[in-house]
Amino acid sequence: MSDPSPSRSLSGQVAVVTGAASGLGLAIAERLTEEGAQVALWDRDPTGLGHAREKIGATARAIVADVTDTKAVRAAWTKTKESLGTPSILVNSAGILGPSAAFADYPEEAWQRVLDVNLNGTFRCCQAAVPDMVAAGYGRIVNIASVAGKDGNPYVAGYVASKAAVIGLTKSMGKELATRGVLVNAIAPSASETAIFGELTDAYRARLIANVPMGRFVAPREIAEMALWLASSACSFSTGATFDISGGRATF
Ligand SMILES: NC(=O)c1ccc[n+]([C@@H]2O[C@H](COP(=O)([O-])OP(=O)(O)OC[C@H]3O[C@@H](n4cnc5c(N)ncnc54)[C@H](O)[C@@H]3O)[C@@H](O)[C@H]2O)c1
Repeated sequence: MSDPSPSRSLSGQVAVVTGAASGLGLAIAERLTEEGAQVALWDRDPTGLGHAREKIGATARAIVADVTDTKAVRAAWTKTKESLGTPSILVNSAGILGPSAAFADYPEEAWQRVLDVNLNGTFRCCQAAVPDMVAAGYGRIVNIASVAGKDGNPYVAGYVASKAAVIGLTKSMGKELATRGVLVNAIAPSASETAIFGELTDAYRARLIANVPMGRFVAPREIAEMALWLASSACSFSTGATFDISGGRATF
């Protein structure tokens, strides 16, 4: 598609949202659907995907895909193209937190796994998408990073490193594709109360919001609103950037 005039409407566009069975991915898929996009919901969790598809409605397609599997990602891209048309939007939200452990005890296997999902998974999905977006002369990629990737959080070294790397990947891709109509940006949220944390005790909940000046969790819907703008043609002169949504926590 050629570059549409700046608008938040996504009517006629196809979007892929990874990690769409839950949390931020689901909220983003819902918001993009409300603005007229047909959304391919990608996730490794078939049951969660079924519920998400029911919630979002008939325009969405549920596609089981594990972002750690390059062949599965390629197959999901092809399936999305065949069933909905070529996507002009990719939102990379699939992610895991990994263990909480002192750095000296942080298991190498978990380090590899967290990087493989959060960083390499984002790389794989972007690589599947970019050739078609460049050929179309238009695309919007939104990577869900984290304020943890900017500020650093103790005891989650793999997670922090993966999110800092996603911010770096976003910068590199943004600069490389800047004249091709394909804009690549990231979002860096503070804590949002989703399944990623597992069971939240009161003490854990308090710790998560202790360094957020606004003193609360960010709602998935608030993140979805930012993702919508970045996924639309209304975002026309920002690329390679990381957008803060941390209630005042981030210091740069
Ligand atoms: N919740 C937060 O506080 C927070 C803050 C900042 C950034 N983020 C980031 O937002 C993104 C979404 O997290 P969330 O809070 O919605 O968590 P969530 O656990 O609710 O959702 C994550 C989704 O990703 C899917 N997923 C995990 N591994 C996958 C894989 N290998 N292949 C395909 N799908 C996979 C899960 O099945 C799940 O549906 C993550 O990248 C996370 O790091 C979350």
